[in-house]
Amino acid sequence: MTVKVGILGAGDMGRMHGDMLSKDARVQVVAVADLDAKRADLLAHQCGARPLETLDQLLDCGLDAIYITSPNWTHLEAVTRSLSAGLHVFSEKPMAISMTDAKKVLEAVERSPKVYQLGFNRRFAPVYKFCRERVEAGFKPYVVNIRMNEGEMTNRPWITDRARTGGYLNENTIHFMDMLRWLVGDPTEVFALGEANCYADQVDFVIAFKFDGGRMASITTSGHASWFYPWERMEIVGDHEALVTEEVLRVMHSPGVAKPAVWYDYFQVPKPAQWGYEGGDRSFVSAVLGEGPSAFTASEGYKAMALVEACYESIRTGQKVVLRKA
Ligand SMILES: NC(=O)c1ccc[n+]([C@@H]2O[C@H](COP(=O)([O-])OP(=O)(O)OC[C@H]3O[C@@H](n4cnc5c(N)ncnc54)[C@H](O)[C@@H]3O)[C@@H](O)[C@H]2O)c1
Repeated sequence: MTVKVGILGAGDMGRMHGDMLSKDARVQVVAVADLDAKRADLLAHQCGARPLETLDQLLDCGLDAIYITSPNWTHLEAVTRSLSAGLHVFSEKPMAISMTDAKKVLEAVERSPKVYQLGFNRRFAPVYKFCRERVEAGFKPYVVNIRMNEGEMTNRPWITDRARTGGYLNENTIHFMDMLRWLVGDPTEVFALGEANCYADQVDFVIAFKFDGGRMASITTSGHASWFYPWERMEIVGDHEALVTEEVLRVMHSPGVAKPAVWYDYFQVPKPAQWGYEGGDRSFVSAVLGEGPSAFTASEGYKAMALVEACYESIRTGQKVVLRKA
């Protein structure tokens, strides 16, 4: 069977997924819809698909699955209507722009027998998979330090409008809310500071998390750091053992005191595989075809958003937020 896919949104992420899907022999990209006709035409042409304008037109194309790569505020309607129309759904992150809307998405996914996958691409990126494999092999992540920066926030007009994104933490940092849950577990407490230094909305944050078993993590992030390398870096300290990632390009494993540390680099791996986009798309198509399990459940997207919400609550109140009893 060939999976007939439609793409909603022909911007950066629409082009990334469109390129991956066009190279997958199990997929036919049937149509691409974007309010911007030039973008729809260009991507449709690249994918050998029909250019369209709206979700309504896309839902009328006899699709098996849809890729929702339009901006955050469109995800709720596009996901719920596509599931109601009987389509499998790949939605770019975040799930939605508020917890109320995320709950609606979660409930729609739970009512539907179809596959729903979020664009948490780092779960498929080799450097982060390496860390997860070490954790599964017994590495204990006691102290995690994450730094994730954006160089500037000017390239997309909607990107600093909290009403349309759910805020910087929901648009950017949510990837690492998911990474923390994936590598360490669900935090018990969070305390966050946030400032609006260079933009109208807060894009500077320092966040501390507490987990069961004496585990702790921090995230510092800024939206105006200039694009110095690496934009993102994660340092995980275990029991006289450590892991360090730089961007999605290399990962270091220090196996113990007085033992040589080893760097694994992925510089030569093409970008879609480095960033996990390729692995995520292949996994989604396999799940649609029944050739593999769904990569993760919708409740994981919801829980990542709940962490974002807890950070904003902590910033508003100046207090730590207790997520659950330790
Ligand atoms: N997983 C990742 O690494 C990653 C990276 C960047 C962006 N994203 C997410 O992907 C989504 C898209 O981001 P982007 O960077 O591609 O944005 P973008 O602005 O480059 O592209 C969005 C496109 O959607 C179109 N659009 C807007 N509203 C629409 C509507 N109602 N119907 C049809 N088309 C519509 C716009 O015209 C535009 O072409 C966002 O949710 C963002 O958070 C994910």
